[in-house]
Amino acid sequence: MLPSIQLGTGEPALASVDVVLVCVHEEALKKSPWLVGIDRALGGGLFAHAKQVEFEGKLEQTLDVPTLGRITARRVILVGVGPRDDFDAARLRASVATAVRASFGTGVRKVAVALPGDVELRVVGEALGLGAYRFVKYFTGERRPKGQLERLFVFLPGRVPASAKRDLAVGRSVAEAVCLARDAVNEPPNVLNPEALAKIARGLAKQHGLKLKVLDKRQILAAGMKLHYAVGQGSENEPRFIHLTYSPKRAKKRLVFVGKGLTFDSGGLCIKPAPGMGDMKTDMGGAAAVLGLMAAVAQLRPNVEVHGIVGAAENMPDGAAYRPADVFTALSGKTVEVINTDAEGRLVLADALAYAVKLEPDLIVDAATLTGAALVALGKTCSAYYATTDDLAHKLDAAAKDAGESFWRMPLLSELAEQLKSDVADLKHTGDRYGGSILGALFLREFVGSCPWIHCDVAGPVYADRAKGFYPKGATGHPVLTFLRLVEAF
Ligand code: BES
Ligand code: MN
Ligand code: ZN
Repeated sequence: MLPSIQLGTGEPALASVDVVLVCVHEEALKKSPWLVGIDRALGGGLFAHAKQVEFEGKLEQTLDVPTLGRITARRVILVGVGPRDDFDAARLRASVATAVRASFGTGVRKVAVALPGDVELRVVGEALGLGAYRFVKYFTGERRPKGQLERLFVFLPGRVPASAKRDLAVGRSVAEAVCLARDAVNEPPNVLNPEALAKIARGLAKQHGLKLKVLDKRQILAAGMKLHYAVGQGSENEPRFIHLTYSPKRAKKRLVFVGKGLTFDSGGLCIKPAPGMGDMKTDMGGAAAVLGLMAAVAQLRPNVEVHGIVGAAENMPDGAAYRPADVFTALSGKTVEVINTDAEGRLVLADALAYAVKLEPDLIVDAATLTGAALVALGKTCSAYYATTDDLAHKLDAAAKDAGESFWRMPLLSELAEQLKSDVADLKHTGDRYGGSILGALFLREFVGSCPWIHCDVAGPVYADRAKGFYPKGATGHPVLTFLRLVEAF
């Protein structure tokens, strides 16, 4: 459970809390009205101490100061939000979330958060929720956290806007939706199998009144999704196809989001080497993001129809597993020769995309932990994306900037497409090692026809080696926020 968020009254220094967080602009340390009050309450010397330890208020810089009984809170934590001129929603979100993470500790339940002026309160609500997230359900005894944040009190300088409470609450529900995606990715693969993904979708449908269709293994085959079926046929944990719909009354646009939901990717018969195989529990990061997005959309109720589709399966080696050289007919009617059973994601997505096209949407967006090559190209923190038009690329860039998530556009280089010609079928699903992320995108393109489309290869950023900004260590919830902004701006 994320902590509750409410407005604080009076001085944060006087609040009955365990920790006071103070967000300060880089050049305005001494001008922060909050800090002057806290410095006085602590008996002076705070500014000299900050100077001494070189705390300047740089973005995400923190300084933890013990109060030694002078005020109720046992610690005051200063957090830099960077220079005023560069300040934007992304920096606000990153620094406030970092601040909340810095407050974690034994016995810390209530925290006051003192903000600079002129902040978007929805973003503050997002940041507080996102920063408070921890995945601790499997810890017992000594390993259980000795303090869980319960209440956050937000202090604003000057007049509190009438919409403050609502904006904070909206932000908190956005954070909750992102954390639904994080939980799904952090969950171990013996627990989170394809049926468990379907169960999450059922929960969302019930809670928010979304329409839901779930196909089981037999129904996936009957529907003609033989690529999806093939990928799942080697596992005891049977595949699921999931389709959630949010449709407001007078929507003018229809968007479809498609997520790769490989709850575990062993590579299949083309089995992966042991080191790093466990990372492949995150191979449903795209699916988790689509479910998180649907949770957010259901609460924010934008005036666009939004579909969330997940192709869920487990890729395992087995007597029944699909093999290299197998040929299957896709939902679109095209035939595909399997080359490498570890390139399973694009097979599942090919059928899900063909299904999406039939909904005649204004835009299809997919999110998939599709290739290791995307990590080689852009590193662990940035998603590779492909767009069929420049206009769509601009829309995605704008959404990502607002969300504070990292995306880089890659080219759909048609000159590589000849590698996907098969000797025995219409297509083969892999080519050279070089240009691996592009080849994955080019294969998917064969299944979207002329529909406007954005493909996001999110293999890196769905899971982080260390906490940074609003991402904790582990599952990040990338790219739920970007997708939500995209929907809201469409
Ligand atoms: N799920 C992997 C891609 C991946 C790798 C995600 C590392 C996150 C981190 C995907 O199914 C895969 O195995 N792709 C292959 C494709 C290849 C066989 C053409 C890859 O990237 O090596
Ligand atoms: Mn694979
Ligand atoms: Zn995979």
